[in-house]
Amino acid sequence: MTKNQSEIIQKTAEFVRNKFEMDNSGHDWWHMYRVWQLAKTIAKSERDADPFIVGLAALLHDVADVKFAADEMSGMNEVRTLLTGFGVDIDTLARVESGLQNISFSSSLPGSESPRHPESIEAKIVSDADKLDGIGAIGIGRAFAYGGSKGRKLYDPERPVQTYKNANVYHSADTPTISHFYEKLLLLKDRMYTDTARKMAESRHEFMEKFLDEFFAEWDGKKVGQVKIPNV
Ligand code: NI
Repeated sequence: MTKNQSEIIQKTAEFVRNKFEMDNSGHDWWHMYRVWQLAKTIAKSERDADPFIVGLAALLHDVADVKFAADEMSGMNEVRTLLTGFGVDIDTLARVESGLQNISFSSSLPGSESPRHPESIEAKIVSDADKLDGIGAIGIGRAFAYGGSKGRKLYDPERPVQTYKNANVYHSADTPTISHFYEKLLLLKDRMYTDTARKMAESRHEFMEKFLDEFFAEWDGKKVGQVKIPNV
């Protein structure tokens, strides 16, 4: 990476840090930081990935996300204005934009439109990094932090867990946090686009399975192994 590129990454990181400093839903600056670090790690083993584009797209992935912006266009416009202000040229900008396309898990779910997947290697890396930060020890912590911010229960034994086939249902769902593991988090390891992320997902996935074994045993005051955990 050139000196100029490193400076642009640094300025982008400062912008993102300011923007997400106050977030308490699990999408704070430190989420952006972790996705950035994960994306760098994955990019090292993926030939053809441009570290500058990966860095910018990783840092900006939630600025462009419809969850946070008013709509898809306004998030992308914010990215454009920011990077143009830093002197990023049109070609690079286009590559950052393609690095931000279809990276969220829900865009790959079959919805009313056909499912969309990231195309560029940079977008695949950022999508994988974002999913990795949603699983493992960090993923467990984030899931309960997010559930708490929405007033959700930890678990409701009377509410069966289910998997989602449709992006719209997924977005409107208001379910206990434990269900979220079955509806989303346990599915993520098989949705990785790069081999590097697929390998990294394994230990994080196993850690969540252990956590769930322990959780359900404790729920009924039993020891691990005495309780059958819900099967979906
Ligand atoms: Ni994210």
